[in-house]
Amino acid sequence: MRSLHLLAFGFGPLLCAAAGTFSIPNVNATFSNSPQPFLIQVDPNFIEDTRQRVAHARAPVFLNMTGDGPSAENFTSVRDFWVNEYDWDATQAFINDKFQQFTTVVDPVINNATYPVPLHFVHHRSNRSDAIPLLFIHGWPGSFIEVGHIIGNLTNPPNASVPAFHVVAPSIPGFGFSPAPQSPGFGPADAAHAFNELMQQLGYSKYVIQGGDFGGVTLRYQAHLFPQQVISALSNFWIIQPGDNDMQVFAEGKATPDEVAYINIIEIYINQWSGYRLIQSTEPLTIAYGMTDAPLGNALWIYSVMAKVVDPALTSWTPEEIITWSMMYYIQGPYGGMRFYKEVQNDGGFATLNFGVLPQVEVPVAISQFPYDLTYRMPLEWAQRGGNVLKRTVHNHGGHFAAYEVPELLLNDIWSWFGDKELSGTKAFIH
Ligand SMILES: *[C@@H]1O[C@H](CO)[C@@H](O)[C@H](O)[C@H]1NC(C)=O
Ligand SMILES: *[C@@H]1O[C@H](CO)[C@@H](O)[C@H](O)[C@H]1NC(C)=O
Ligand SMILES: *[C@@H]1O[C@H](CO)[C@@H](O)[C@H](O)[C@H]1NC(C)=O
Ligand SMILES: *[C@@H]1O[C@H](CO)[C@@H](O)[C@H](O)[C@H]1NC(C)=O
Ligand SMILES: *[C@@H]1O[C@H](CO)[C@@H](O)[C@H](O)[C@H]1NC(C)=O
Ligand SMILES: *[C@@H]1O[C@H](CO)[C@@H](O)[C@H](O)[C@H]1NC(C)=O
Ligand SMILES: *[C@@H]1O[C@H](CO)[C@@H](O)[C@H](O)[C@H]1NC(C)=O
Repeated sequence: MRSLHLLAFGFGPLLCAAAGTFSIPNVNATFSNSPQPFLIQVDPNFIEDTRQRVAHARAPVFLNMTGDGPSAENFTSVRDFWVNEYDWDATQAFINDKFQQFTTVVDPVINNATYPVPLHFVHHRSNRSDAIPLLFIHGWPGSFIEVGHIIGNLTNPPNASVPAFHVVAPSIPGFGFSPAPQSPGFGPADAAHAFNELMQQLGYSKYVIQGGDFGGVTLRYQAHLFPQQVISALSNFWIIQPGDNDMQVFAEGKATPDEVAYINIIEIYINQWSGYRLIQSTEPLTIAYGMTDAPLGNALWIYSVMAKVVDPALTSWTPEEIITWSMMYYIQGPYGGMRFYKEVQNDGGFATLNFGVLPQVEVPVAISQFPYDLTYRMPLEWAQRGGNVLKRTVHNHGGHFAAYEVPELLLNDIWSWFGDKELSGTKAFIH
């Protein structure tokens, strides 16, 4: 992005005029400098081409064992469902019916330069006069679809004693229907600039943020960069890498039960199954070559992560969900979403195998922890190393995709935190 900044500085008007030229492969979409209603319309020929590729997918020679990746049964069940039953038209119609979607172009100012960022986003306004603008940010391997189970209750809560929200749920560029960046440099810091600009364009000068995964990462840049705009945040992925001293205490057997539980989770993640993250944050193009033409491979790549971070007592992903989630990458091509990992690394959010140091957040923050997620049981004192964390809620059920998997638990956390006008600071919205 640094070279693009220079270019944009000299040729700003030229680039702005080109805003209408943004497009997404295989999708009818236009992007102009103000929000325009958007319906997903994927080229039917592409959908049939995808189905044919799945029908011709070549199976590995399976060993009778577990632990190498999604099972042989998964290969067969997802393939057969995709070839024989999956109905993209019905899925597309369902999403278009459920979500009010828009496209736009924003022009964030970064280091005195600007460049256009085309975005796809969901925007549902509440009809409650006291509603608070809320930015919901998804992560990988999710999408804007994750907000679907909470958006109704956020905009139209059951009664006036819980807060209502105007909900904005953008697709990170490279995910869903936001075009992938055309130059390197667009990571969570630039996403924070773009999403703040989106909220301003929608007339929300002040707002709150909720996010998990990269949403939980991006919100830390955004609250750090825009403390006048981001009044408060609730993160269900507030990660802090244990430090050398913490590991020393742990090795000496003097860590608290919460510290032990958290370190064990992080160690298992880093040492046993973060390989996907290492490849995506080092050579995303290498893996993208394999996935761009291989819809079933792409789906199982994503499912491998989806499967590990949900509560097995609550969630058993169906082939239909696996396919639809993977389509949010496959339709435009998965490279942009994958290489966001590299930009997180470049922005400091990852430090090779470990998590990096994210910007300090001074605005009030609440964190929610779920047992099948990486941040489960991290002590409040550790969380406070990253900023002004005032509340920690530890749940007994659920995992990484809280909004999708345990919507009622996350809704209660959202209502309880942002409903506390003093502690969360949302009294700023009372006029
Ligand atoms: C895309 O838009 C063009 C022009 O409006 C239209 O002819 C075409 O049918 C659309 N394609 C899909 C898949 O809706
Ligand atoms: C696979 O392994 C399990 C036990 O590990 C065994 O019960 C089963 O018979 C094996 N199946 C085949 C086809 O070898
Ligand atoms: C994937 O395989 C695992 C292990 O065999 C199984 O528990 C799970 O239900 C499968 N899921 C799908 C969608 O096939
Ligand atoms: C931005 O412009 C202002 C005023 O011209 C200048 O003081 C500042 O150093 C510039 N910042 C950067 C990052 O270039
Ligand atoms: C607000 O909108 C909901 C539907 O989203 C509707 O049921 C409700 O009656 C509306 N309330 C008011 C006060 O208009
Ligand atoms: C809204 O919340 C209520 C209670 O928390 C729940 O019963 C209902 O299913 C939710 N509605 C939606 C659309 O999520
Ligand atoms: C309002 O709704 C919330 C969330 O469902 C519930 O916890 C609370 O008891 C309700 N309050 C009243 C007064 O009905």
